[in-house]
Amino acid sequence: MPKVIYIDHTDISSEVEVENGANLMQAALDNMVSGILGDCGGDCACATCHVFVDPEWQDKVAAPSELEEDLLDGLIEPQPNSRLSCQIIMEDKLDGIVLRLPESQY
Ligand code: FES
Repeated sequence: MPKVIYIDHTDISSEVEVENGANLMQAALDNMVSGILGDCGGDCACATCHVFVDPEWQDKVAAPSELEEDLLDGLIEPQPNSRLSCQIIMEDKLDGIVLRLPESQY
């Protein structure tokens, strides 16, 4: 099964196996990874699942929708690699993806 590596703001990492088709916000919640809140349940409406995609993985992740981009624009400190983890769907090519978690979500 493909894996995701979540790294918190203190550099502690959690490696989680995720089924293809699952979103990476729910995978974090299901595996008790703190730093992702997912308040809207994955409806792309809250931005509490904000993550920074490791630059080496950015090109492999599907582009954000307009709705996701609008939410990302509303973040306090958006970065070029900011994404909403509920909008990233696991697939084989993302096996090993590294996501860093913003301190503001702790
Ligand atoms: Fe609300 Fe991702 S969980 S936008």
